[in-house]
Amino acid sequence: MLKGKHIVIGITGGIAAYKIPYLVRLLVREEALVRVIMTPAAKDFVTPLTLATLSQHDVIFHPFNHETGAWNSHVELGQWADLMLFAPTTANTLGKMAHGVADNFLVTAYLSAKCPVMIAPSMDLDMFQHPTTLKNLEILQSFGNIIIDAQVGELASGLSGPGRMEEPENILKIIKDFFFQRQELTGKRILVTAGPTYEKIDPVRFVGNHSSGLMGFSLAEEAASRGGEVLLVTGPVTLQTYHPAIRRVDVTTAAEMFKACQDHIGEINILIMAAAVADYTMQYPAAEKLKKRPEKLTLTLSPTPDILKELGKQKRPGQCFVGFALETENYLKNARKKLKDKSLDLIVLNSLKEKGAGFGVTTNKVTILSRSGQMIKGKLKPKKEVASDIIDSILATINTK
Ligand code: CTP
Repeated sequence: MLKGKHIVIGITGGIAAYKIPYLVRLLVREEALVRVIMTPAAKDFVTPLTLATLSQHDVIFHPFNHETGAWNSHVELGQWADLMLFAPTTANTLGKMAHGVADNFLVTAYLSAKCPVMIAPSMDLDMFQHPTTLKNLEILQSFGNIIIDAQVGELASGLSGPGRMEEPENILKIIKDFFFQRQELTGKRILVTAGPTYEKIDPVRFVGNHSSGLMGFSLAEEAASRGGEVLLVTGPVTLQTYHPAIRRVDVTTAAEMFKACQDHIGEINILIMAAAVADYTMQYPAAEKLKKRPEKLTLTLSPTPDILKELGKQKRPGQCFVGFALETENYLKNARKKLKDKSLDLIVLNSLKEKGAGFGVTTNKVTILSRSGQMIKGKLKPKKEVASDIIDSILATINTK
């Protein structure tokens, strides 16, 4: 139930606006108090009368009512709301919100929000994929707004692709999860590692791998959103963090990652080692750029520390250690061996041979194996959702410890 929650819905001029009356109805059924703002263009897609009837309040378009002269204060609305939801949000409004172009009541209300803001983009696929739109979404997310990802599917243009507004039932679920968010990791300190490590060959070259860091970053965000205090030790990646409870330490080499982990291992409750740590480093990195020569070049590599295995030796009772296993053959056998050898409670098994899973993609398909012999086989899902499944398994483990 959303009893007594104050929700402002801002509707902009996109075809998905026709779905908002249904969303308002769902929210009212949950006993939320809903106020609706529309941009002038939104009226072309859905009638204010429908929304006023369902929300049981006049719809707001302008700072003041031309007929009665009543003043609609965007500041008051900003203070009243427990949540502002902008759905559907067109490319035009996204741009205005990202850059503070307050030329309508909806954007002034957004700029006056004192509460969390959710934004559900909706547009045709080419507009959605344009760098301008992607940049604006990134800017809005960096301000702490919650982006409700657009879905891939049939679009009003007849084309099919990304840009479809999330369905009202799912938006309701996101809102309910938000208000009654599970905070099971409150009071827990979680160390997450992410990304590759780069081992220097000479000043311009390195030994590395294709890890994007997305799995580790998704785990860090998920752990923080469930109340955990997160330390994210990451190798070189182009990602950013959003949740204020994440402290980030950037490293380059396996040795630096090892040191950063060792510095904090004593104070943490949960270790999630999602980084793709290089197994070898140059024995003697060249001080100057290696020059091209006609003969073959042999690089002498020496093993890096196995961070997880070393940390496992210092593991305290009550600590929960989670590792990843990236395998191309004998998956279960190899993963179970790592689970045991590295003193882990859980191991997350990835297969590089699985389509849509592994490095450089936004989805993953994993199998989670526990020390007690349990095995959970996941489906192919966005890495964000895989992160949520992994955190669920960690919670199940620590609750039985
Ligand atoms: N790992 C680590 N330090 C290393 C190498 C790996 O801490 N030097 C961690 C990874 O972060 C992962 C787990 O160990 O959580 C397993 O990594 P993976 O690359 O699958 O296995 P390796 O132990 O490196 O063994 P192999 O490459 O032979 O499969």
